[in-house]
Amino acid sequence: MKIKNICCIGAGYVGGPTMAVIAQQCPDINVVVVDINEARIAAWNDADLNNLPIFEPGLDAIVKEARNRNLFFSTDVEKAITNAEMIFISVNTPTKTYGKGKGMAADLKYIELCARQIAKVAKQDKIIVEKSTLPVRTASAIKSILDNSGNKASFQILSNPEFLAEGTAVQDLLHPDRVLIGGDTSPEGEKAIQALVDVYAQWVPKNRILTTNVWSSELSKLTANAFLAQRVSSINAMSEICEKTGADVNEVAKAIGMDTRIGPKFLKASVGFGGSCFQKDILNLVYIAKSYGLDEVANYWEQVVLMNNHQKQRFSDHIVKTLYNTVSGKKITLLGWAFKKDTNDTRESAAIQVADNLLSEQAHVVVYDPKVASERIYADLEYLNTRLPEQNRQLLTVEKDPYKACKNAHAIAVLTEWDEFTTYNWQAIFDAMEKPAFVFDGRGILNQQEMEDIGFIYYKIGSQRPNFMQSN
Ligand code: NAD
Ligand code: UDX
Repeated sequence: MKIKNICCIGAGYVGGPTMAVIAQQCPDINVVVVDINEARIAAWNDADLNNLPIFEPGLDAIVKEARNRNLFFSTDVEKAITNAEMIFISVNTPTKTYGKGKGMAADLKYIELCARQIAKVAKQDKIIVEKSTLPVRTASAIKSILDNSGNKASFQILSNPEFLAEGTAVQDLLHPDRVLIGGDTSPEGEKAIQALVDVYAQWVPKNRILTTNVWSSELSKLTANAFLAQRVSSINAMSEICEKTGADVNEVAKAIGMDTRIGPKFLKASVGFGGSCFQKDILNLVYIAKSYGLDEVANYWEQVVLMNNHQKQRFSDHIVKTLYNTVSGKKITLLGWAFKKDTNDTRESAAIQVADNLLSEQAHVVVYDPKVASERIYADLEYLNTRLPEQNRQLLTVEKDPYKACKNAHAIAVLTEWDEFTTYNWQAIFDAMEKPAFVFDGRGILNQQEMEDIGFIYYKIGSQRPNFMQSN
């Protein structure tokens, strides 16, 4: 079966870039991305490519090439479902904020709404592709809803989790380590799998397209994120030991990373991992383990998230302690708000927690981020509900110019590893700051020697000079 029309429900960080790349690579397939969020669809259709709702290096060029050729963004969900032989579901699956599983389980209400809408509209056979990250065995719930629609159409459910990382989404999609497709082992299931394999095979080498049963595919996604996040929490745990002992976490990471069994990637100590996936997916895994009575397994994985919370907390505690145990009324500048560089996404960013802690200590927090809008920053803080929105706006200022942001500051904290931070005139920044001038580098991107030569009291996560340790 050759696919000619694809619909993707959900035009977010995954749906948008994934479909843009499919459309670019498969000019003979018509791709329609739909969303109920009208503003988001309007932004995807904006003539000015700077206004796309998502910032990803290289995405604008791909959208420019494919949009209105065979890539369309629309709010007409029903029409897109009707016309497509293959429907990707790429809606959000956040952590539940209510009821059973609150704070742990994935909220599947958006997934179920999609399934019900497809059931209502579809009159012909369709292949449904789970692109969202889902708890293992969700495909059976989707199938049950579709099979009881009352229509004659029949459905195959595939799991095709997305492994792209934000900031490198386009390259990850163009050159994936692997594409994973899980499906039913029946002849119809195998036909559906083949149809999706044929789509990817237009640009992905065949030996990188892996097919499995549905449950393995669903669970592999949660497993991959759990393993990746675990590496970050592991190196962050070591960063704290390094600071106590005089070891340097970057040297330790290099030394262990040269062991080919460990490998060098994903060993960068940080102020804590953020992003919409790691915490949510681990908590979901913990919930699944608990629901099967696997308490030891659940506790094991939960520790990855607890360690991450600790890392964020100890970073802000360290700032307060170093600034003579009080930051009340002091200007502290945060460089970076996004959860990593090269994205405007701030979901679960460590900066949010660090800022909130400092605001609770009555610091005057100033934020500069090259890609994050000020309203996003205030919205992130309001979501925590720690204090009134007007108090957040009173205590925290957002600046568009980094030098202005740092002027008269008592301390600077680097919270995102944006490349531009390493290119600043740090001497000029030092000259304009209160003295002693402190820099807390939560990403380890600045040169310790250069910073100290200028005169900064410089703290890099996971490495402390002996003289600095003594004074603490
Ligand atoms: P997102 O919030 O950016 O986008 C989801 C979109 O779905 C929203 O625009 C929302 O309006 C839309 N939507 C929700 N219900 C809808 C409905 N019934 N009909 C039409 N549109 C609807 O989310 P995202 O970051 O793109 O993540 C989507 C899924 O992909 C999640 O399950 C996530 O875990 C997974 N994932 C995310 C990443 C990532 O880096 N962000 C990577 C891999 C997997
Ligand atoms: C992650 C997975 O990498 C991706 O495969 C999945 O599809 C979605 O979740 P993402 O969250 O976009 O991607 O970014 P990632 O590069 O994994 O970084 C996550 C967080 O970990 C960031 O806050 C990053 O700064 C942090 N991190 C990452 C570290 O602190 N140290 C590292 O060595 C790597």
